[in-house]
Amino acid sequence: MTDTRPDLRSVEQPSDAPDTEAQAHFDALLAADERIEPRDWMPAKYRKTLVRQISQHAHSEIIGMQPEGAWISRAPSLKRKSILIAKVQDEAGHGLYLYSAAETLGTTREEMNEQLMSGKAKYSSIFNYPALTWADVGAIGWLVDGAAICNQVPLCRCSYGPYGRAMVRVCKEESFHQRQGWEILHALSNGTPEQKAMAQDAVNRYYGPALQMFGPPDADSPNSQQSMAWKIKRFSNDELRQRFVDMMVPQAEALGLTLPDPDLAWNEARGHYDYGDLDWDELKAVIAGNGPCNTQRMAHKIKAHEDGAWVREAAAAYARRHTSTDATLKHA
Ligand SMILES: [Fe+2]
Ligand SMILES: [Fe+2]
Repeated sequence: MTDTRPDLRSVEQPSDAPDTEAQAHFDALLAADERIEPRDWMPAKYRKTLVRQISQHAHSEIIGMQPEGAWISRAPSLKRKSILIAKVQDEAGHGLYLYSAAETLGTTREEMNEQLMSGKAKYSSIFNYPALTWADVGAIGWLVDGAAICNQVPLCRCSYGPYGRAMVRVCKEESFHQRQGWEILHALSNGTPEQKAMAQDAVNRYYGPALQMFGPPDADSPNSQQSMAWKIKRFSNDELRQRFVDMMVPQAEALGLTLPDPDLAWNEARGHYDYGDLDWDELKAVIAGNGPCNTQRMAHKIKAHEDGAWVREAAAAYARRHTSTDATLKHA
């Protein structure tokens, strides 16, 4: 026993069994754009979808600390180092909010962690790419956190209360992350020719994988429609990807960098930028575990978990002692 928090499996959850009256109440809450809360009845599939999505999101925040965390000791100045420490720490916080939100659905953090470490649960494909240079830290902040903002702002209105509320704070922090990435690239882009080339190289490598973060095209995303009907998701993968492209083109221009897509062009009739086909085979390979860093990321996570066993044991012992002290005081 290493976790002192209540085991939510032992807390009675509302039944998932079909119930016409309860289903009508659930449907009415959705229709009125109100939140579904942990106490409310919900269809079993709604619960399952949310546990999968929220835990996958939490895992992404936690694994996402690795590529940038590796640059903390190599950041080029004290100021850059303290900003990066704060950013990586924010991501840890996002993971914790999200695990807590998922726990309200009756799955424990231990179970979710186990699913991640056994490879049963996924995390965002983007974190299986290496951060090779300091400019990559800028590209991750600008592109990856930028994509996260596009994905997560609509999640603030997610029908499930604990997830939507967690997203409000997360999004505020993501927008700071995106600006710090933009500012790193801006400094490099306006530096020496070598620094500018390094910034462009980082953008060249991260742009395609960042677009893939929105998931497969709508035609190849069978669960999206149900998630939209449940108001978990508010926009489709392709709609969000389009928003991202439209947002990034002027920002790239302001940076003096180019986006690596020869088909990128303003389409007056659509009022959006057209963009080229993405390499979906690459996304499938990375999701299947064959990205450049999948093995390394999981090995690092498992080692960190094992190395942290003494912390969990100490925290559990401390909590036990305090619980018994509290009980003694109450009886005194
Ligand atoms: Fe985050
Ligand atoms: Fe972030």
